[in-house]
Amino acid sequence: MSNFPSSLKCIKSECSKSYPIDSDVLVCPRCKGLLDVAYDLSAANAVALRKSWDQRRASLSSMDTSGVWRFRELLPPAQESEVVTMIEGNTQLFDAPRCAAYAGLESISLKHLGMNPTGSFKDLGMTTGITEARKRGAEGVICASTGNTSASMAAYAARAGIRSFVFIPEGKIARGKLAQAIEFGARVIQIDGDFDRAMSLVREIADDAGLYLLNSVNPFRLEGQKTVAFEILQQRQWNCPDRIVIPGGNLGNSSAIAKGFKELFDCSLISKMPRLSIVQAEGANPLYRMWLSGNTELIPVDEPTTLATAIRIGAPVSWQKARRALDWMNGNVEQVNEQEIADAKAIIGLDGIGCEPAGAVTVAGLRKMVAAGTVDRGEDVIAILTGHSLKDPDYTVSYHEGTLGLEAPFANRVAKVSSDRGAIMAALE
Ligand code: F0G
Repeated sequence: MSNFPSSLKCIKSECSKSYPIDSDVLVCPRCKGLLDVAYDLSAANAVALRKSWDQRRASLSSMDTSGVWRFRELLPPAQESEVVTMIEGNTQLFDAPRCAAYAGLESISLKHLGMNPTGSFKDLGMTTGITEARKRGAEGVICASTGNTSASMAAYAARAGIRSFVFIPEGKIARGKLAQAIEFGARVIQIDGDFDRAMSLVREIADDAGLYLLNSVNPFRLEGQKTVAFEILQQRQWNCPDRIVIPGGNLGNSSAIAKGFKELFDCSLISKMPRLSIVQAEGANPLYRMWLSGNTELIPVDEPTTLATAIRIGAPVSWQKARRALDWMNGNVEQVNEQEIADAKAIIGLDGIGCEPAGAVTVAGLRKMVAAGTVDRGEDVIAILTGHSLKDPDYTVSYHEGTLGLEAPFANRVAKVSSDRGAIMAALE
């Protein structure tokens, strides 16, 4: 089967202008709106797609083993020789009984995107983003990042032999992520401002510097990220869940996953859309505020704060796509405070899974939503964990040592004992 015909299309309903898929544009030249990769799905055949995608799980070719490119009919066209893949995707869907009990649910599944090659969901988007950069002959790529985008872009750019430039906010990036960007050979530029400032800077300079921008404003990145929806369905033998719960920062991932579900629905691979809950940290909650107030325009949060540094974002680039995602998936937005995030993360740890703080907002949000009656305790829920626990070990150790500046009701303190038999036996009791 070949790819469905694709184009770039402005998401603003009053514009909706289309451009050829290989156009040299990142936003709509006419109205500056965000662009989608849009497909003509008129020839889609659900049975044939499902059969082909399921068969590829037994193949050894890299295009088939990748949990992104396996679904290539619904991706922008790329030859096998152009594709830059690290066999991303194929991440676990864990049953998590302690999280379920904590959240007040009968059961819960955690889709752990932290199990990707560089430890976050960004790899799903970088395989399509860097492939596109290579197709377009880019000599260098650039992004602003709270850490994971930079780690992932640096890795994929290195694989492709393309130079990478990353802008990070000063002092607010977890060490694991910084270590990766440095190790993978990116030119790392730390600015004396926050993520939102770094983001507006790279948007301003990317073109002049002749660098291909790989933040989620780039629609090719979101195409890779949307395949989480496909993979979840495939792992569940095409049985659609009731609800997806996902963290919201720059709002690219929630937008991407919603687009994935919409396309599955449009291809008749699912007969209903699951509901969507986007969860933000209380100190970085512009979408939550918009949703609560019933406004249709997002007002940025000027000085976003949260210890979940991945989502410390006040002016999310993809908010219009996230608003559309909430419409498509009958969604809602929740916020959680620092204590709720930290405690939920500890419980995810007790299920033997773990995640970085930003991912834990999902379980924290679910606990609130079940208590409020927004989510039914019998719902079939999937929470998306977005990054690996080892991205930010300082946070974890500080929580358990009691030095995070929060209460630590689930602390697992390190026992310090002298190295003699009696003291050790006493500690074991
Ligand atoms: N979780 C993690 C672990 C992240 O790294 C991010 C975003 C998010 C959630 C939020 O996803 O932005 O698509 O709403 N990290 C970006 C970065 C901003 O630069 O790594 P989003």
